[in-house]
This record gives sequence, C-alpha cells and structure tokens, in this order.
Amino acid sequence: MRVNVTVNGSEETVDDVWEGESLLYMLRERMGLPGSKNACEQGECGSCTVYLDGVTACACLVAAGQAEGREVRTVEGLAEGQPGDERLDPVQQAFVEAGAVQCGFCTPGLVVQAHDLIERTPEPSDAEIREALAGNLCRCTGYEKILDAVRLAARRKAAPK
Ligand code: FES
Ligand code: FES
Repeated sequence: MRVNVTVNGSEETVDDVWEGESLLYMLRERMGLPGSKNACEQGECGSCTVYLDGVTACACLVAAGQAEGREVRTVEGLAEGQPGDERLDPVQQAFVEAGAVQCGFCTPGLVVQAHDLIERTPEPSDAEIREALAGNLCRCTGYEKILDAVRLAARRKAAPK
C-alpha cells in the first residue's frame, strides 16, 4: 500500500506499507523519525504521541493507512528555525533545563503533549498540567521535574518577547 502524508511540513510518499502497520511503525522504521517512542504499543503510555491534523494522538493506535492525506507533526518537527540552524522548542528546552529527562523514553510524548497544552492553555494551572499529561506515563522521574519543566515552558512562552 502507498501512503501519502505530510510529516513535519514535508509531503511524503511511503511505499510498501502493510495494512496492519501502525503510524508509529511507519514513522520510525520507514521514515527515519525515531523520536516517537514505542513503549507499550497499546495506547497506554503516551510515549508515541504525535499531532495528527493538529490533535494529539497515540501513533501506535493509528493505522498507517489512516494517515493518508493528513498532516503529522512529530517531536522532531517542534524545533524552530531552518535545518542546520534549529533551536529547541521552549518546551524541549525547559525539559532539558529542569532535569525532566532520565531514561528519556517518555520524553518525546510528554513534550508533544505539553506543547499542545501550552498552545491551547498558555497559562495552565497545576491541575490542568496534571490532567493534560495524565495519559503519559513515566517510570523514572516521579513527575515533579516534568511539572517544573511545563511550568517553566509556559512562563517563557507567556513572557513578552
Ligand atoms: S507506545 Fe503508544 S501509547 Fe505506548
Ligand atoms: S524518563 Fe524514563 S520513563 Fe520517563
């Protein structure tokens, strides 16, 4: 099967996709985008979170064929600037600075989910942060540093430039 999909702003054609293949597999194994992680493959952990037509989704639960004609944005597509001169998105930068990354397996999904939260709710309360990230599981950090990172990113994005 052939799938035509826009990924991180670039129109792509992917051939030889199997009908049962997930969007996550297609991104990672056929398109060279390993940022989205495969931790459970059952929609339980959120480590594979991507934007699909602007709405966050678990890429492991989306069939690759369902992405036909649609727009996908992965964690690789959050960085700002041109190739060779990219800057981390403020959410990515905040995760680094707050020490919110240990093994890093959950991090791409958390970053995409937190990015979406701050786009929709520029000054989220702690309760809103916890609710937004409830579907993203982390085995390592105890979540406090992750909350710190999201608060930091939201403050920076809200600050006048
Ligand atoms: S790998 Fe998709 S939700 Fe866990
Ligand atoms: S940093 Fe290891 S699972 Fe979150």
